[in-house]
This record gives sequence, C-alpha cells and structure tokens, in this order.
Amino acid sequence: MHGLDDQAVARVSELLKGSTQPVALTGAGISAESGVPTFRSGESGFWGRFRPEDLATPEAFAADPLLVWCWYAWRRAQLAELSPNDGHRAMAAFEQLPGGFTVITQNVDGLHQAGGSHNVIEVHGSIAAVRCSADCGARRYLLHEHNHKHDHNHDRERDRERDRDASAEAVFASDREVARLVAEQGDAAFATISEGSGLSGRLPPQCSGCGAYLRPDVVWFGEQLPLEAVNRAFELSESADLFLVVGTSSVVYPAAALPEVAAERGAVLVEINPEPTPLSDRADVVIRSGSGPALSAVAQRLGLGA
Ligand code: OAD
Repeated sequence: MHGLDDQAVARVSELLKGSTQPVALTGAGISAESGVPTFRSGESGFWGRFRPEDLATPEAFAADPLLVWCWYAWRRAQLAELSPNDGHRAMAAFEQLPGGFTVITQNVDGLHQAGGSHNVIEVHGSIAAVRCSADCGARRYLLHEHNHKHDHNHDRERDRERDRDASAEAVFASDREVARLVAEQGDAAFATISEGSGLSGRLPPQCSGCGAYLRPDVVWFGEQLPLEAVNRAFELSESADLFLVVGTSSVVYPAAALPEVAAERGAVLVEINPEPTPLSDRADVVIRSGSGPALSAVAQRLGLGA
C-alpha cells in the first residue's frame, strides 16, 4: 500500500471545515480494520462454505431458521470481541465540526455508535436487534451494549432501557455457545443444538407476542430497506454539500444511489477506499487508503485528534 496522499488529506480537511452539511456513506470497509470481514472477502471455517447471499434471505430463514439464526449468533459473538477503529472514532469526532456530521451506514455492526457517533442512519438495520419474523408488532429485542468494547460516549437513556431488558439477555444468551458448538462440531452442531444440549428446542427464540420465530432486524437480500431510514438518507444526500463515500464497493442499490444523488445536487464527492470502485471516476477527491489512517489524518489536521 502507498503512503497517505497528504494533498488529498489536506483537501478533505479543508472541505470538511467549510462544509455546511457533511454526510458520509459507509460500508463494510470502514469496519475491516476492526476485524469485521467485508461482505465480499470470503471466510474460512464452517461458515466459509456459505455465501451471505444464501443465508441472508427470507427464503433461507423459512427453509432453515436454525441455520440462519446460528449464523447470526456466530456473527454477533464475533462482533462482541471487536472494537471500533480510528476511522469510526474520527467520524465521531467530525460531529464537532461547524456543519455537524451524519453517517449513513450500510453496516449492521453498530461500530459507529460504539466509536462515539450519535448521528447514524442504519439503512440495512442492525445485527444487535431482533424482531418478530411475522411482523406482529411485538417488541424488538436489543443486544445489551456491554457486549461491545465501547470506548466512550453512548446514549445513557438507551442503556438504562437495555438494563431493564432481562428478556433481551435471554434472547442473545446462547450466542457464544452456538458459535463454539458450530466451530467444534460443524454440521453435527445443529443436531446438538436442537436435540442434545441445554439449548434444545429454544432456538430460534420465539416472539412473546405471537410465537413466530424471532429474526435479526437486518435487511435481507430481496427485502425493502426500512422506509424511514432510507427517506432520511435520501433527504440528507440531496441537501449535503460534501459527501464522503468510505469503505463501500458502491455496487448495492439503493445505498449506492446516495452519492449519485448528492453529486447531482452539487455536493463535492470524496471517496476513501484502497481499491477503485464504480464511483471513483465521479469523485472529486480520492484517498486510496484504508479508512482508519485516512480519516484519523484528516481529524488530526482539523485539530480533532481522534
Ligand atoms: P463490500 O464488501 O462490497 O465492499 C467493501 C469495500 O471496502 C471494498 O470496496 C473494499 O475495497 C473496501 N475496503 C477494504 N478494506 C478497507 C479499509 N481498510 N478502508 C476502507 N475501505 C476498505 O461491502 P459494502 O460496500 O458495505 O447489504 O457492501 C454493501 C452491501 O452489500 C452490504 O451492506 C450488504 C451487501 O449486500 C445487505 O446486507 C443488504
């Protein structure tokens, strides 16, 4: 990898300083330095034989709810061990800029919030939440945030709510055991989980309202994005004067349309990605680097030392 392009870093810092409404769209790449695998990076071990496109669908959940539940349990267990990186922290620090800063993220990992960001729009949902798969309107369960290694700064009120939420603890309590059983036993783990262990018959957990299975509150392939979040994301992109596209391959729509909309409305477009993307040619400034080093260099230049 080449060293950082100082000129591009300086330019992005100036743009941020002068921006009245800076917005970022982030993807899996911003979390790569935290150890979260990107969507297209491949995975070894038991889960490596599945493509996310084959598990993250309503059809896959209908066909084999336990398999899909266990995949997410494994992913939550992995995430619990991970921390936000310099890129997340820099973006949190950008909220102190005169124009503020909003992150629109395709990531479901919650690491922006864990890094201290408050203005985060999750257009693909959150892996830390589950809801009724029959959409009966019963409550949504949130993974207790103490499972994340937070550094600072998060919403106390929400925390208190989660502290009261003993049943949510039960919904997620088996995540680590599931991850361990699958790693140790492979295919045989599913029989163990459904018949031969303390988990027998308990997974996926069922909705307290209607008895349907609970499912991750994420957007699966073929599903609509959450309307409110998407509408806010488009509104913001239309009014942004500076739009940073960070760590996304910019191939999955409608999220990939956001920078296009912003550019059409006159926003300056910045891309931060070690690899070229379909958006690169349209970007006004490109930093070809990992987001952690790039964004922390920008933050330091702005005196926001993240
Ligand atoms: P991808 O896995 O498609 O792309 C990750 C991008 O991050 C690539 O362009 C990499 O070059 C870049 N990258 C890798 N390391 C990086 C680093 N250290 N710093 C910055 N960038 C880095 O992930 P997404 O674009 O997020 O949707 O994928 C978008 C959506 O595709 C996902 O949200 C998911 C999937 O379909 C749903 O689940 C609905």
